[in-house]
Amino acid sequence: MCGIVGFTGRRQAAAVLLEGLKKLEYRGYDSAGIAVRNGSELAEVVKATGKLKNLCEKTDNGNALKGTCGIGHTRWATHGEPTKKNAHPHVSGNCVGSGSGPVESNVVGVHNGINENYQELKDKLTRHGYVFYSGTDTEAAIKLIDYYYRKYQLGPVDALTRSMVRIRGSYALEVMFKDYPGEIYVMRKDSPMIIGVADGETYVASDVPAILEHTRSVYYIDNMELARLLPGEVHFFDLNGDEVKKDPVEITFSAESAEKGGYEHFMLKEIHEQPRVLADTLHSAVDPDTCRIDIGPDDGTLRNTEQLLIVACGSAYHAGVAGQYVIEKLAGVPVRVELASEFRYRTVPVTGNILAVVISQSGETADSLAALRKLKKNNIRTLAVVNVVGSSIAREADCVFYTKAGPEIAVATTKAYSTQLLSMYLLAIRLAEVRGIIDGARKAELIAELEALPEKVARLLEEKERLQWFSTKLVSALSIFYMGRGIDYAACLEGSLKMKEISYIHSEAYAAGELKHGTISLIEDGRLVIGVLTQPDLYEKMISNLVEVKSRGAFLMAVTNYGNYSVEDNADFVVYVPKTDPLFYPSLSIVPLQLLAYYTAVNRGEDVDKPRNLAKSVTVE
Ligand code: G6P
Repeated sequence: MCGIVGFTGRRQAAAVLLEGLKKLEYRGYDSAGIAVRNGSELAEVVKATGKLKNLCEKTDNGNALKGTCGIGHTRWATHGEPTKKNAHPHVSGNCVGSGSGPVESNVVGVHNGINENYQELKDKLTRHGYVFYSGTDTEAAIKLIDYYYRKYQLGPVDALTRSMVRIRGSYALEVMFKDYPGEIYVMRKDSPMIIGVADGETYVASDVPAILEHTRSVYYIDNMELARLLPGEVHFFDLNGDEVKKDPVEITFSAESAEKGGYEHFMLKEIHEQPRVLADTLHSAVDPDTCRIDIGPDDGTLRNTEQLLIVACGSAYHAGVAGQYVIEKLAGVPVRVELASEFRYRTVPVTGNILAVVISQSGETADSLAALRKLKKNNIRTLAVVNVVGSSIAREADCVFYTKAGPEIAVATTKAYSTQLLSMYLLAIRLAEVRGIIDGARKAELIAELEALPEKVARLLEEKERLQWFSTKLVSALSIFYMGRGIDYAACLEGSLKMKEISYIHSEAYAAGELKHGTISLIEDGRLVIGVLTQPDLYEKMISNLVEVKSRGAFLMAVTNYGNYSVEDNADFVVYVPKTDPLFYPSLSIVPLQLLAYYTAVNRGEDVDKPRNLAKSVTVE
């Protein structure tokens, strides 16, 4: 989604804003803009379409704009196409043309989220003489603030609280008022926003990496709260306009962890970080002395749970699908896995003791958050498996298990997905243990396998050149099919998603047993099929499926474990992964699939870290 930044302090704001936006570009890259104020002079607005570098060029990396207070935005278009006119910041005045230059307006602002009743607000404001220049929902919000500010002669805080109750949907909104130089006002509902305060300077951003090089002391602004920012100071208010006291939270991860560190792309770097983040996540959950696993819910809850309900989106959903296989097999607890976007609008009969698990890297995905709220409304106990500390899902769930993936910048997730998978294994083991299904010896065996995973992933990464070589054969592929059975099917879902989201090659994952029910009609000479076959009890069945597609002309790649050499009778290219417990193979088989997607996208010249039309954190529906 969109990214927002803000700064008020002693230094020139424009360069600080652009640096912050660079760290948030993964959130949106259709267009970008900044507004900067020099003392009490009017705000100067500059916008550019396309990637952020266009805005940097246009402003001489910020040097062309004078002033120590400003706001910035990188856009992922929802309402209104990605043009300069629709780019943020937006202004309350009846601006003509593209909206750049000094602005006479009372209010200038940027917005992340969706103003759902913007049409109704626009009609009302038009009746009051406002003229709209853009196709965005944001412009209505900015003009509404101005309307209350002027009509009732309200101060900024009261104008904002009035607007907050009128705007439906979600927002992280950041504005400057002409009459209040050096001040920034922000308000929030269901869209992430953090505020950092350092010596004499104050920062706002949608996400921590944007301000990490300046301060580690961060305030989380809650839903339906607003804040007034001055240099080195922040004051929070509730919807009544009463001041709210808050304590800052200390961020522990390093600024370097959000840098590329010598890799060509964040995605490649993050793929390589998997051994470390797997070890970090494991060690955060398992006590080294007692081997006790702490994954969040207490033992009583785990013992009494009759059904697990996993809810998530995208790759997190795929981790949930893998979790379903592992938990049912190991702990004997029935598991339902639901797409959050579907679940939130369905009538779901919920009976018995259910533990719901909401998986989310960002902790801000709008559908997952809505699903969590629905679950809570139904009095279902909730566990959040989240990467971003202090995010909405983490704060609202009954308990939270933090994956230790660190900041993930590439839009296509790799390391966060791997830690989500690991969390599913840990949950399964803990459930099986407290329910008396596995004994101490089996548990120790499973933990030892998990301990060995990071090194096995590292070994797989050493073979990346083979995948790089093989990827050259995919450059002009039109379609790729992934197939597997059991938990291998879950790995296929994720492998296929990686391929399509960054290389733009159509790909599809299917359960190999479904082949005969339709998909086999698409297999023709040269069609690339990737089979994943790591499950001993399903190996022969999978071989039959490979033979079926091979005999219809498929060009076949296989991912299997060492020892299964008979696969070479059919496959044109084989990647062997080290042996592990059959339940944990997705953590290994996903690595070559990630690398294949990465190198294919690179070979096709695509923007790997920022694929078109996608955003890392989907904070709107
Ligand atoms: C977006 C990202 C995916 C991610 C999904 C869910 O689509 O591009 O990588 O899996 O959102 O995000 P979450 O933050 O909830 O895991």
